[in-house]
Amino acid sequence: MELLTEQLISLIDKDLPLVTNLSNASALLNTLEDINWCGFYLKDGDNLYLGPFQGDVACTVIPLSKGVCGKAARDAKTVIVPNVNEFPGHIACSSLSKSEIVTPIILNNEVKAVIDIDAPIYNRFNESDKKLLEELASVLAPLFK
Ligand code: SME
Repeated sequence: MELLTEQLISLIDKDLPLVTNLSNASALLNTLEDINWCGFYLKDGDNLYLGPFQGDVACTVIPLSKGVCGKAARDAKTVIVPNVNEFPGHIACSSLSKSEIVTPIILNNEVKAVIDIDAPIYNRFNESDKKLLEELASVLAPLFK
């Protein structure tokens, strides 16, 4: 198990509100290097709504049909975008962001939220980041019960 996952497990308390756990989880994500934004979008109906995050003010509502977050939620799969300028429909919340990774949080085959991380450099995210975020997502998923 990754160190960050172990830290997340020791941070979360299933008896506390979801927003409380996700807030500290976003602070933990923010310890990753070379990132400028990290946080959660929570799915409700056909939209994703901004949840706890660290970074600049961000878009509040993302339709499932739009953006990297929408694609990850729609397909229930991690999306790595090496260069946001080359991703059709990328939603630019910050001009700083150059690359991005979005991982869905899935409970009982249903996407509940996504973890979104932006980087100020191109090609920031790779398969090991994907593995890490998917591990973190599986730890967070039971909180969405
Ligand atoms: N770039 C995202 C929008 C959210 S911000 O990165 C915080 C997207 O295209 O879905």
